[in-house]
Amino acid sequence: LLAVNLPGNANCLRLGRRRRDRAGARGAINWTSDHQFELGGQRFALESGETLGATRSTTDRFVLGKVPSMVDRFVAQNSGRSDARHVVELGIFQGGSVALIQEVCRPQRLVAIDLNPEPVAPLEAYIDGHGLRDVIRLYYGIDQADRARIAAIVAAEFGDAPLDLVIDDASHFYQPTRSSFETLFPLLREGGRYVIEDWDWAHYPEEMWQSDGGMWADEPALTNLILELLMLAGTRPDIISEIAITRSLAEISRGPAQLDAPIELSRLYAARGLEFRPIL
Ligand SMILES: C[S@@+](CC[C@H](N)C(=O)[O-])C[C@H]1O[C@@H](n2cnc3c(N)ncnc32)[C@H](O)[C@@H]1O
Repeated sequence: LLAVNLPGNANCLRLGRRRRDRAGARGAINWTSDHQFELGGQRFALESGETLGATRSTTDRFVLGKVPSMVDRFVAQNSGRSDARHVVELGIFQGGSVALIQEVCRPQRLVAIDLNPEPVAPLEAYIDGHGLRDVIRLYYGIDQADRARIAAIVAAEFGDAPLDLVIDDASHFYQPTRSSFETLFPLLREGGRYVIEDWDWAHYPEEMWQSDGGMWADEPALTNLILELLMLAGTRPDIISEIAITRSLAEISRGPAQLDAPIELSRLYAARGLEFRPIL
C-alpha cells in the first residue's frame, strides 16, 4: 500500500552528476550536464531552490523547475507507455514541464493551468511549431483553489472521459493543493495517478526553508495533506490504492471506488473520532 523510498540528497546529487542516456520508445533522455538534458530534439535546463527563475525559457531551451531525480523518475515511469492519454498539470511556470509531458507521454489531451495570466511565449511557439493546438490546452490566470473553474475546464476539455494523470506543481500550499485534490482526484480512472510535487518543502534542510520558519513560515506545511492522504489510504483502500513517496514526489494511485466529485477528504477518513487540524 505504501512504498516509502527516500533516496536522500547525496544519492540524488550523485545521480545528477552522472551522464545518463535512457532509451525510451520515443527516444532517449540525454543528460548533457548535471542540470541540462535533451529529449525528443528539445533542450531543457533544470532550476530549483535558489536558482528557480534565474533564467527564462527560450524557443530552443525550456526552463524546468525540477531536480534531476524527478525527471529521471518521470521518464522511467512514462516512456514507452501509452496510458497517460488524458493529463492535467497545475503549474505551467515557464512551460518546461508541459513540453516534457508532451515529449514523454504524447497524450491525446494535456490541459495545463496557471495562476499567472501572462502567456508563456516559448511554450506558445512550441505548440504552434509542432501543430499541437488540439492537444495542449493552456489556461492562464486560473487559481488552483477555484474548484468551480477547474471542474468546468476539465469538463469542457475531457467531457465524461476519466483522467489518467494529474500533476500538481502549482502553489505547494496546503489549502489550495487540498482543494485541487478534492476536485480532480475523483475524476481519475482506476489506476490513474495523482502526483503532488514538492510535498516536502517544509523539511528541506537549507536555511531558506528552515531559519525563522523558512520563506513560507506563515503557510501550513504540505506534509499535512500527505498525512490526510495516508489516513484516507488506511480507511478507504478502494479510494487510494497506493501512495509512493520519493524525494519531492508523492504519487497517489486511484482505487476503484465510485466517487462523486468533488470529494471532502475529512469526511472520508476515520481517525477515532478526532478532528485533524494541520499540525506543522
Ligand atoms: C514551481 S512552478 C511550476 C514549475 C513547472 N511545473 C516546471 O516543472 O517547470 C509553480 C507555478 O505555479 C503557479 N501557481 C502558484 N500558485 C498557484 C495557484 N494558486 N493556482 C495555480 N497556479 C499557481 C505559479 O504561477 C508558477 O508558475
